[in-house]
Amino acid sequence: MSRFDDLKEELQAQPAVWLVTGVAGFIGSNLLEALLELNQTVVGLDNFATGHQHNMDKVQALMSEEQWSRFHFIEGDICALETCADACAGVDYVLHQAALGSVPRSLEDPITTNLNNINGFLNMLVAARDAKVKRFVYAASSSTYGDHPGLPKVEDKIGNPLSPYAVTKVVNELYAKVFARCYEIEAIGLRYFNIFGRRQDPDGAYAAVIPKWVASMLHNEEVFINGTGETSRDFCYIENTIQMNFLAATGQHEDAANQIYNVAVGDRTSLNELYEAIRSLLVDRFPHLQDAKPTYRDFRAGDVMHSLADISKAKDLLGYEPTHRIGEGMAEAMDWYVDDLSHDSS
Ligand SMILES: NC(=O)c1ccc[n+]([C@@H]2O[C@H](COP(=O)([O-])OP(=O)(O)OC[C@H]3O[C@@H](n4cnc5c(N)ncnc54)[C@H](O)[C@@H]3O)[C@@H](O)[C@H]2O)c1
Repeated sequence: MSRFDDLKEELQAQPAVWLVTGVAGFIGSNLLEALLELNQTVVGLDNFATGHQHNMDKVQALMSEEQWSRFHFIEGDICALETCADACAGVDYVLHQAALGSVPRSLEDPITTNLNNINGFLNMLVAARDAKVKRFVYAASSSTYGDHPGLPKVEDKIGNPLSPYAVTKVVNELYAKVFARCYEIEAIGLRYFNIFGRRQDPDGAYAAVIPKWVASMLHNEEVFINGTGETSRDFCYIENTIQMNFLAATGQHEDAANQIYNVAVGDRTSLNELYEAIRSLLVDRFPHLQDAKPTYRDFRAGDVMHSLADISKAKDLLGYEPTHRIGEGMAEAMDWYVDDLSHDSS
């Protein structure tokens, strides 16, 4: 049995109270689902800036009435300290996901990104400290590696940030480190690489690449690749991300707390390979994709060329064992997307 299997049994035997911020979003709603499945009590906080009621409705549909009765939702904004304090009251573990994602969004509106991702983050840290939570686990980002040329990315070697979004994620790490040093709070940053899976939003200008491409292919729309397509990413399926959140919240290794961990698989996939992987998973069901080709356009400002994680720190200190490589995750996610999106395909 893996450390994660043991942990799930332990959690079921001794349920705890968890706060998931950003609970109506992609990663937050998946954390909610996994926690309720283990009969945990969950407080959720979201202001619906980019999240959706339907994500929580879909989780509800998977739960028994009893499991769902252990979920308490607060519609509110992390930019209000009082709301954060209410949400943290009586909580054991915080999984802080709420933020405005997307590099291009931050280039267009750095002030709003700063407000949510830095001021909001600081409010959450203060509220978690004052509530004396056992651990504060937060969504950091691989964008923190910025212009550092090294591959694979190792947690203690970062470069200069390349976008306002990346600045906010670097500042989160700095605040968490200082709080761990100056106050009695244990904080762990999870540097997510490109996470994908069910309930990731395919719509809007700032959608992530996998859901956006799947939706475009299903709807027979043009798929754009920024640059030559040789840009590469370490795509990480949501199940691995859930595992890392649980391990980070509860990991008891003497050096586990007050650390930053990469959350990825340690595989590198180019955008051209990704396009082909999605197309080939869909082509049997959608024959219009038989000869489909992407359209290439300019590389996007603020993006990094290559991203690949070294995940040995998470393995060594937390017992992380990714269960899904990109192909396995894609196959699962694709069924979900086809169910969810094909009802309005043309
Ligand atoms: N998805 C990825 O690949 C990825 C990669 C790196 C980092 N991250 C980080 O992971 C976290 C979750 O990302 P996601 O992909 O689930 O995005 P998402 O947009 O689906 O979820 C974010 C959620 O936070 C909520 N939110 C935003 N601002 C808020 C505020 N001020 N108050 C309350 N709620 C607020 C949104 O409404 C949304 O439900 C974010 O911090 C993001 O920066 C994600």
